[in-house]
Amino acid sequence: MSGAAFRARAQLDSPQIVTLASLAAQSGRYFGAAVRMEYLRRDLDRDLRDAVEAECSLLTPEIDLKWDVIEQERGHLTLTQMDDLVSFAQSSGKKVHGHTLLWHLSVPSWAEAELADRKDWTLVRNHLAAVIPRYAGIIEDWDVVNEPIETGHRQDGLRPSIFLRAFGPTYINRALEEANRLAPSARLMINEYGLDYNLPVENDRRYLFLKLLERLRYDGAPLHSIGIQAHLDLAKAPFSQKVFEKFLKDIADMGFAIVITELDVKEHIYTLSAEERDQRVGELVTDYLDVALAQPAVEGVITWGLSDRRSWLYVTPEDYVRHAGAWKAGEGPGLNRGLPLDASMRRKPMYHAISAAFRRAPSQ
Ligand code: XIL
Repeated sequence: MSGAAFRARAQLDSPQIVTLASLAAQSGRYFGAAVRMEYLRRDLDRDLRDAVEAECSLLTPEIDLKWDVIEQERGHLTLTQMDDLVSFAQSSGKKVHGHTLLWHLSVPSWAEAELADRKDWTLVRNHLAAVIPRYAGIIEDWDVVNEPIETGHRQDGLRPSIFLRAFGPTYINRALEEANRLAPSARLMINEYGLDYNLPVENDRRYLFLKLLERLRYDGAPLHSIGIQAHLDLAKAPFSQKVFEKFLKDIADMGFAIVITELDVKEHIYTLSAEERDQRVGELVTDYLDVALAQPAVEGVITWGLSDRRSWLYVTPEDYVRHAGAWKAGEGPGLNRGLPLDASMRRKPMYHAISAAFRRAPSQ
């Protein structure tokens, strides 16, 4: 879509009276964002909390449920932030997304060492048993396995994570079965990134991911829903609506529900004006969500943060120095503008792109 057409569409939006949650509900969907309780409880971020409260019908804990965060020391569980996040969500009628149980980047170092050493499934079982029943009846969707695919290692495309090395390829089946025993009515998910662009590596990732889903379905694994992370990037191209549409259809045809779980847009070309950068982000999100929301299996959209003030995409001056050489001319530290609200909670073109896409979405 051209910039002018995008702006015309955005103007049709009436942001004063509606929220993303209410627009999502019009087609039977939800809108959510990843949050950290550490920010939501701060006076400094009261405006962020108000925006989260108003705009979201679901919250994803950005870090508060991750294994390395809740069990830094073996057997010493710290779930205060997560419990508070759940209370905050419940007090305003929001759902909570169970992110995430097994992720190679959030295994505490003591568990990583023990899994490598003893290959003892009890460690995984105990971790799942510590969190799933605690949030029974509250968390309905669990990301059981996060990011299982990685190209360039094995023919089946499985990432050689500590879980694969300890238990082999069926660790995914075992984890799903374990979670299903602990929460028989919960919907169990696999969540993956790098599935969006029409690039050779992402074509491979989509192919390998579909093969994994086919295998799990054939095995009768209790897998119900698929998370597409959607970390978009203005430096990546091309994005093909046709290719992405076919991919979502392939997943839906296997009988799985789909959630867009971590939408954000990486952009850090500081030589462009903020207006131009926002415009590009909005256009990309429009192209992406128009396809996603035309697919009836897509149940909701979650952004990875709501405001640029608290975004994992924020490039700190330390990052800039630490990764010297990773930046092209014109790039540098500062706010990444890849979330719906700016650092002062003002709605940006990305916000209007999401709201317009929800408005255009056919009813479920
Ligand atoms: C990220 C958080 O945003 C960071 O704050 C944390 O340091 C690392 O994890 N894919 C995922 C998320 O599934 O859990 C990651 O979240 C971002 C990439």
